Amino acid sequence: MASFDLVLRGGTCVLPWGQEITDVGVREGRIAAIGDLRSAAAANEVDCRGLHVLPGLIDAHVHLRDPGDPAVENLSDGTRAAVLGGLAAVFDMPNTAPSITDRERLDWKRDYLGGRAFCDVGLYVGASMKNIEELASLELQPNVCAVKVFAGSSTGDLLVADDASLEAVMRSGRRRICYHSEDEYRLQARKPEFTSGMPHRNHMIWRDVECAFLGTRRLMALARKTGRPAHILHVSTAEELDYLKDFRDVCTVEVLLNHLTQTDEAYDRLGGYAVMNPPIRDARHMEAAWAAVADGTVDVIGSDHAPHSRAAKERPWPDCAAGLTGVQTIVPLMLDHVNAGRLSLSRLVDLMCAGPARVYGVVGKGRLAAGYDADFTLVDMKKTRTIEESWIVSPCGWTPFAGHRCTGWPVATVIRGGVAMREDEVIGAPQGQAVRFAEARGA
Ligand code: DOR
Ligand code: ZN
Repeated sequence: MASFDLVLRGGTCVLPWGQEITDVGVREGRIAAIGDLRSAAAANEVDCRGLHVLPGLIDAHVHLRDPGDPAVENLSDGTRAAVLGGLAAVFDMPNTAPSITDRERLDWKRDYLGGRAFCDVGLYVGASMKNIEELASLELQPNVCAVKVFAGSSTGDLLVADDASLEAVMRSGRRRICYHSEDEYRLQARKPEFTSGMPHRNHMIWRDVECAFLGTRRLMALARKTGRPAHILHVSTAEELDYLKDFRDVCTVEVLLNHLTQTDEAYDRLGGYAVMNPPIRDARHMEAAWAAVADGTVDVIGSDHAPHSRAAKERPWPDCAAGLTGVQTIVPLMLDHVNAGRLSLSRLVDLMCAGPARVYGVVGKGRLAAGYDADFTLVDMKKTRTIEESWIVSPCGWTPFAGHRCTGWPVATVIRGGVAMREDEVIGAPQGQAVRFAEARGA
């Protein structure tokens, strides 16, 4: 008789080839069987009848604040938030304090995860004006998901703004590079037009459409010239989404939950708690983002989770910190979008599992299939719950989505066969490991 460590019984499984009500058997942390396992023995079972079984969802864009200010968030808090929100893995950005830009800090961070992370973690390495030569070897270090380039300035001190330096970055190494695309020169040139204390909606007027679009046009010209694959993070304008359809040979596309969920009315309602880079814009851009989800332009959806203290968010614009929490809320909000008919559950899995796996070259995750890691997000598509600020476990303690009523909620997170969250409770010690990538060493 077949025996398993864990069997998920009778859930509606979102398989790469369609949805099936079936069982999933797990052995030694990996998927060992998919099919009718009624006659198999199981050391542990989860009754999934009435639930959907998704591959463990991945948020490929989070800024955990470690090293940084633990009163805002540390790695344990941020990954605890992730598993409560139904995520099995996050890819962590390098603009910490200090930033992750060399071998020593990368090695430190990989070691630091052990015993602290509640979910699996992929590591970005940051490009700076000082490490361009080293990027070719840094991107090959174990567990590196990608090099991140801030081509426009945002939180932290990472910036590579000029074409010659960006080209040098593209010629250093081979893997797909992730870009924050806003034109730094236009940002700085227009800043004097604005003064302290102006209404928060000036954020999207300062960092306007042309700022993002110009940044993306410059990056695409350089990507074509060098042949270096690009991934444009948080594409926020209708203009870029239209333009990038002609660059699929060199470019993949990320859109954020925020840009699919919020429009400029948020500035009046939330003040500094609506400020992020690139900015939340008007409804025309949100509609374009949904159209780009529908037609396949978008490869990945992320949260851009970027916590800041309340004090930093409440400073007058433009001195208020840019960035919004999101790692705990992206899954409920996306499930709510599924229930509202804006995308299918299969497309959500494509955007948060298969998409990240393809863009970053993840090993063994992002797919419900035999041999893959036994990572699962179990969701109850009928459960209705309101996002409350008191639920947020990042110490900063706020969410721009407080009061949002969601239909569809993650009820369990399973990581490599271990139940990490069930019914809103984090279970056991932090078991997170570093994610493996095909093109990095040691994969
Ligand atoms: O709004 C943002 N916040 N955009 C970024 O690019 C960085 C992030 C952060 O780290 O605060
Ligand atoms: Zn970001």
